[in-house]
Amino acid sequence: MTVGRAERRGAPTMDARSMGTSVRRIEGPDKVTGTAAYAGDTPAADALVLHPVQATVARGEITAIDTAAAQALPGVVAVLTHHDAPTLGDTGDPEHRVLQGTTIHHRGQFVAAVLAEHPEVAAEAARLVVVTVDEAPSTTAFDPDGESYVPSALGNGQPPDSTVGDPDAALAAAPVVMRAEYSTPMEHHNPMEPHATTATWFDDRVEVYEASQGADLARQTLATLFDTEVVVHAQHVGGGFGTKGFLHAGSVLTVLAARAVPGRPVRFALGRRQMFETVGYRPVTVQRMALGAEPDGRIDALVHDVIGATARYKEFVEPAGGSSRSMYAAPHRRTSHRAVPLDLDAPTYMRAPGEAPGSFGLECAMDELAVALDLDPIELRVRNEPSVHPENGLPFSSRGLVECLRSGAERFGWSTWERAPRRRLVDGWWHGVGVGAGTFPAFRMPGSTAEITFTGGRYVVAIGAADIGQGARTVLTQIAADALGVDVASIAVEIGSTEVPVGSIAGGSAGTASWGSTVVEAADRFRDKYGDAPDDGDHADAATPDNPWAEEYAMAAYCAQFAEVAVHADTGEIRVPRLLGVFGVGRILNPALARSQLQGGLVWGLSMALHEESVVDPRFGGVVNHDFAGYHVAANADVRDVEVAWIDEDDPYVNPMGAKGIGEIGIVGVAAAIANAAYHATGVRVRSLPITCDDFL
Ligand code: MOS
Repeated sequence: MTVGRAERRGAPTMDARSMGTSVRRIEGPDKVTGTAAYAGDTPAADALVLHPVQATVARGEITAIDTAAAQALPGVVAVLTHHDAPTLGDTGDPEHRVLQGTTIHHRGQFVAAVLAEHPEVAAEAARLVVVTVDEAPSTTAFDPDGESYVPSALGNGQPPDSTVGDPDAALAAAPVVMRAEYSTPMEHHNPMEPHATTATWFDDRVEVYEASQGADLARQTLATLFDTEVVVHAQHVGGGFGTKGFLHAGSVLTVLAARAVPGRPVRFALGRRQMFETVGYRPVTVQRMALGAEPDGRIDALVHDVIGATARYKEFVEPAGGSSRSMYAAPHRRTSHRAVPLDLDAPTYMRAPGEAPGSFGLECAMDELAVALDLDPIELRVRNEPSVHPENGLPFSSRGLVECLRSGAERFGWSTWERAPRRRLVDGWWHGVGVGAGTFPAFRMPGSTAEITFTGGRYVVAIGAADIGQGARTVLTQIAADALGVDVASIAVEIGSTEVPVGSIAGGSAGTASWGSTVVEAADRFRDKYGDAPDDGDHADAATPDNPWAEEYAMAAYCAQFAEVAVHADTGEIRVPRLLGVFGVGRILNPALARSQLQGGLVWGLSMALHEESVVDPRFGGVVNHDFAGYHVAANADVRDVEVAWIDEDDPYVNPMGAKGIGEIGIVGVAAAIANAAYHATGVRVRSLPITCDDFL
C-alpha cells in the first residue's frame, strides 16, 4: 500500500534554510588545535591516578586480599578492596556492582584499586596486591550446540522470537530451498578515545568528567549508586560506537575511589588492553538461514534462527534476526534467538547491534538464493519488496530500498559485470562485485528537555545532547536556526553536560531525531510566546514530544551497499578497491557531516568483513589479541574508494525535520556485500567473518 498525498496532510516537515547545507563543525577549530578537552585530559590539578587490580581467572571466589606491600609503597594514597568499599545502590545492572563482594564473574573484573600520585607508582602498587582466589570451573568458549536458553528479550527490547504462518511446512513445499549457516565473531568497539573518568567528590556532590554518549544517563546511574548529587560533563567524546552508552565498571570504580579522597580529583583512563576487558563487545553469533522460493524468486518462507553468546552474569542478546522481520515479503516466516551463557565480561550495543551481524546472514543468504535461482541478486530483492511491514502490517512512512538498489546499480556500473562467478582476472587478481541491503529503525527517544533563552542578541539553546564526533552541536544549531527562523550565527548551542537540561543519549542512531524534535518544540513555543522580535531574557522550554505517527507507520532507514573485491589468485589476499553505499534516510541535515558519518559506517563494515575478530583463550577467558597489533581495525591502507550517495527522500512522519538516523545504517549490509563480491570474484562462498586469505586457498 502506498501512502497517498491526502493521508500525508497534517505532517509537514519544516522549511529548510540552514538544514541541508554543510555548516562547518562548530568545535572543529578546538579539535584541530588540541584545545578540546576529553574526559581523560580535562585539567585537574593534583589528580590522583587510579590503577585497577583485575581478576586473572574467569570464575571463582576471592578468599583473601593482601594489600600490605602495596600500601607500603611511597606515593600510594589508598588501596581499595571489597572490604572497605561502600554499599552501592542498585541500578539493576550487574556491571555496576563494583567491589560489592567476592564473586568473580569474568577475567579482567576489577577486584581492587590503587590510588597514587603517579601512574608508575599506581601500576607497581597494583601489581603488589595479592589476591587469593578459589577458582571455579568456567565456560568461555562459544559452542552453538551447547547449553543455551530462550532470552527474556533482545538487546533492543524486542521479543526473542517471531513467527508468521507455518515456515517449516512452507520450506518443505518450496520448489527452491537455500539453507546455510553464517557466523560472526566477537568484536570490540575500540573508539579512538578509550574510556576515561575524572571524578572529584565534594561535600554535597560528585563532579565527573566522563567519556560518555549521554551525560544524564551517567548521572542517573551514579546518583542511584552513590545516593548523592552528581554533575557529569562530556563536552567532547572521541567516538562511542555503543560502548559509551551505559556506564561500565571502570567509571563506577573511579567515583567510588574518589569518595575515599574528598576534594581530590581521581583519574582513570583505560589503556587499550583494558578496552578488551570491562567495557563490552559485540558477541559471537551463529545464524541458521533458510529461504524457500518459487522459481520466479518470490520467497515463500524466510527463517533466521540465531544462536548468540551472552554473559552468564548479565544478559545481553544481539538482536541479529531483527532486520529479517521487515526486510522482505514472505507469507511464512520465523526469527528466533537463543543465548549461550559464558563466563565473560558482558556484551553490549556495538555499531548497529543486530543489524550489522544479522545483515551478514540474511544478505549472504539472499545472494546464495539468487545464485540458486539464476537470478540477478538486485532483481531478487526487488521481487520481494513488501508493500507493508511483513510482520505487523503497518504501512511504511517511507521506504527507499528499491530506489537505493536501482540507483546504486546504475552508479556502480552493476550491469557491466557478467553474473557468473570467477570471470574477471586482472593482473593476477580475481575481481567481482556484490550487493548487500539493510535497514535500521528510525525512532525518537523520550525524555529530553530543550531550553531557549534570548540573551545578548542570540538564542541560547540548551539541551544535554552528546557530541561523539557526529556533529551534534552543529546540526542542532542548524535545526534551531530553521525552527526559530533566524541565521545560524544567532544561535548558541550548549550541550554535553548535566548542567544544561536533560538530554537522551547519542545512541540507537536516534540522537538528532530526539534532541532535534525537542528543540523544534521549544522553538515553536518560543515563537508562540514572543514572536520573532524577542526581548533580552525571553525564555521557553519543552520536553520531547511524542511522535503522533509512531503507532501508525513502520519507520526505518534503508541502504544498498555495493562492493568490488579483488582476491589474489595465488595468495588469497583480499582487497576492496571500491565501496558504494546508497541511503534512503530522509532529509540530509548537513551533507558534509552526513557523508563523513556514512563513510565511517562503510569503513566499519569493511573492517568487520576483513579484519575484526576478538579471540578468547578458553583456558583463561581473556581476549588474547587485546591491542591494535593483534586486533586490526581498518586503517588508511585498507580503505580505497568509499563513495556515499543518498536518494531524495521526504518523510513527514519521522520528525519535524524529516530526518532518519544515520549513525549506524552505514555499516549494515557491507560485510555481506563484500562476501558476496568475494564469491563473485572467486566462486568461493565464505560464510564466516572475518574473511581472510586462507578462505580462498
Ligand atoms: Mo549505538 S551501538 O546505539 O551507540
